[in-house]
Amino acid sequence: MEPLAPRAMRWLVLALLCFQLGAGVVRIPLRKGKSMRELMRDKGVPEGFLKNLKGDPGRKYQFSNAVTYEALTNYLHSFYFGEISIGTPPQNFLVIFDTGSANLWVPSTYCQDPACVNHNRFNSSMSSTFSSIDVTYTLRYGFGDVAVALGYDTVTIQNIVVRNQEFGLSLDEPSSPFYYLDFDGILGMSYPGVGISGYNTLLQNMMQQNQLEEPIFSFYFSRNPTYEYGGEVVLGGIASQLYTGEILWTPVIQEIYWKIGIEEFSIGQSGTGWCSQGCHGIVDTGTFLLTIPAQFMSEFLQALGAEENDYGYVVDCNSVPSMPTLYFGISGTQLSLPPSIYVLNNDGICTVAVESTYVPSTNGQPLWILGNIFLRQYYSIFDLANNQVGFALSA
Ligand SMILES: *[C@@H]1O[C@H](CO)[C@@H](O)[C@H](O)[C@H]1NC(C)=O
Repeated sequence: MEPLAPRAMRWLVLALLCFQLGAGVVRIPLRKGKSMRELMRDKGVPEGFLKNLKGDPGRKYQFSNAVTYEALTNYLHSFYFGEISIGTPPQNFLVIFDTGSANLWVPSTYCQDPACVNHNRFNSSMSSTFSSIDVTYTLRYGFGDVAVALGYDTVTIQNIVVRNQEFGLSLDEPSSPFYYLDFDGILGMSYPGVGISGYNTLLQNMMQQNQLEEPIFSFYFSRNPTYEYGGEVVLGGIASQLYTGEILWTPVIQEIYWKIGIEEFSIGQSGTGWCSQGCHGIVDTGTFLLTIPAQFMSEFLQALGAEENDYGYVVDCNSVPSMPTLYFGISGTQLSLPPSIYVLNNDGICTVAVESTYVPSTNGQPLWILGNIFLRQYYSIFDLANNQVGFALSA
């Protein structure tokens, strides 16, 4: 029995080695881009055109060839994005890590539109690992359609390497808004049900190819974002430095998007009763604003004393500290959203960072989208193994 101890030691050493050589938890820094209004103004778009932008609601989550729409229209929108690469040798792209859609697409050299030429374009003939599929799809956006051809290639995100990943190569992108945007493409992280059917999503392949330390990813959005550092997406786990206190877990109620239940919504001390029959909330890292069920929008704005004008839902900046805190009742806990988070101050113009929900509710229950504004207050954890979402106070 003498060799047992050394063998046990060897196993321990091996186990430690494996742990250190494993993919580990990967932290990808996110940058925060400018708002649509700022981007378009920088590129010389006349103010009159900017005003007209506001009337066009985003149309995320509508289907065309079973593909999701992405809202890119509201001029208050801005985006958080980080770097990935595709192909061998790697070609780099800035993408939104979007829990509200399921497909990956980037601009490609098949596309000669100004919107494509103005961005990093994937050149498939420069990649030795690329293979094409003879399939094209149309991704519908509020401003127009993005046509993509499907292909397979290696996708690399730091030390995560996913082989034979299906992705879209753009064929056609409308100038507005894509020409103006400061990211290249979109990386969908929602359940496959909202994506192009018949292909594995990037997350499915990450799991199948053992590239995630754990089947979990999480997001941190800074309360004071800059272009250099807007937050982080953490793949394969949770980064305890990025939150404080306990994690509140709540089940995913429908494996389409990341949809959770909201039991109650209060404005200050007053319960609204809007969720007395239950509300649903989509946790969406690809939507900037908080969206309010359309039927409650005017009551909500009235309660906050906000007035609609060309800049959005405007409030007096001096009154912001005395505005009510909002509370979302989730899994028996009240998650608060103070005015310092839900009111944006752009050069002395204060706007409530909300819009009405543009996604139709599937079962008549009022639908909210908990976008980046909500997620600046709460570090969010997406647990694929247990189909649950966790929230903890952002650090
Ligand atoms: C794509 O790469 C090929 C091979 O290197 C090159 O000949 C071609 O010009 C590139 N296309 C574009 C649009 O850059």
